Amino acid sequence: MYSVMRMLSKFLVTISVCLLMSFGSGSSSTLNASFIFGDSLVDGGNNDYLLTLSKANYPPFGIDLSPHRQPTGRFTNGRTIADILGQEVGLKNWVPPYLDPSATGPAVLQGVNYASGGGGLLKKTGKFFGASLNLYTQIDCYSKTRQDIISTVGRTAALRLLRKEALFSVTIGSNDFINNYLIPILSVPRRAVISPEMFVESLISSYRQQLKRLYYLDARKILVVNVGPIGCIPYMREQSLSSSTKCFDLANQLAENFNSRLKDLVQELSSSLDGSIFVYANVSSIVSDIIRNYRHYGFEVADSACCRTAGRYGGLIPCCPKAKICSDRTKYVFWDPYHPTETANILIAKQLLDGNSNVIFPMNIRQLAQA
Ligand SMILES: *[C@@H]1O[C@H](CO)[C@@H](O)[C@H](O)[C@H]1NC(C)=O
Ligand SMILES: *[C@@H]1O[C@H](CO)[C@@H](O)[C@H](O)[C@H]1NC(C)=O
Repeated sequence: MYSVMRMLSKFLVTISVCLLMSFGSGSSSTLNASFIFGDSLVDGGNNDYLLTLSKANYPPFGIDLSPHRQPTGRFTNGRTIADILGQEVGLKNWVPPYLDPSATGPAVLQGVNYASGGGGLLKKTGKFFGASLNLYTQIDCYSKTRQDIISTVGRTAALRLLRKEALFSVTIGSNDFINNYLIPILSVPRRAVISPEMFVESLISSYRQQLKRLYYLDARKILVVNVGPIGCIPYMREQSLSSSTKCFDLANQLAENFNSRLKDLVQELSSSLDGSIFVYANVSSIVSDIIRNYRHYGFEVADSACCRTAGRYGGLIPCCPKAKICSDRTKYVFWDPYHPTETANILIAKQLLDGNSNVIFPMNIRQLAQA
């Protein structure tokens, strides 16, 4: 694990150069740290250290991750959105996962990744699949890192780093729906007593508390990523009962209800917490557009997983060593039943960096970095 991380960071400079060329936007180095919170969409290897079924530290995960094509615990074939954003805003090294024993002392001055596959806003989310770090726990971990940074560089420099030079990103919520409210059969009794409105409200009120905690722990530039069109991931398509559309409509409706409340929350916090800049990313809009117009983006398949074992859409069983892998990953929107390919992640990251206020509000990441 250590050596993989170390090798990765050595080659990061090369990757950054390639990225800058491909994005062509000539960004200047404007941020010095990235603190990443979320679920498997941005996990950088925390679940390698947890007792859980939700793991990505075996092949074929990482099959396109430069330069060694090795699994690292990232739930995709290459880099995550958080990896790509970090490189683009000027971080020189790979941000270590919190549970990696090397994530301490000076190593954390460029940020830490607390994200965990299966993690959600609610403490009970994903319990069925084993251990994960929920958002409460992730922020507890961050408060330890914050102390660590204060001990390393002193209070004044630490506050400058956290408040001015760091990007905080939160990508969470999908699992609260997928692995809590929408589990086939198991969730049916829960849905009978908790209405969708009540459930969404409980998620938002938990989110409000956690984002406030982050602010009181000196986070200022905070990117909040909404929940994607979860009804269109291969796993959910397998459950779709609708004949007109192949996406699972209930899941998408729930996500949209949540997203519109989340946007209000972000605006509420921006105006009530002094000096904060909360940015709301409508990744749902970006991903829906990619799925709808996939050919325009150069994809050939937008409904099925590249790494597949069973199901009409390859969505019934998680990606595993025995699975069949598509030969050209760049032609698939989805890597496995749940997660986008690196190619899709690059398109999403590009919109977050340079997109307009239809997809990222009130400013994009490039502007946030310089704010
Ligand atoms: C990042 O750190 C360097 C070196 O300490 C400093 O010169 C630079 O101003 C920092 N970046 C920002 C955005 O503050
Ligand atoms: C996200 O974008 C979609 C499509 O552009 C739009 O319909 C939706 O209202 C947006 N959601 C929020 C909460 O901003």
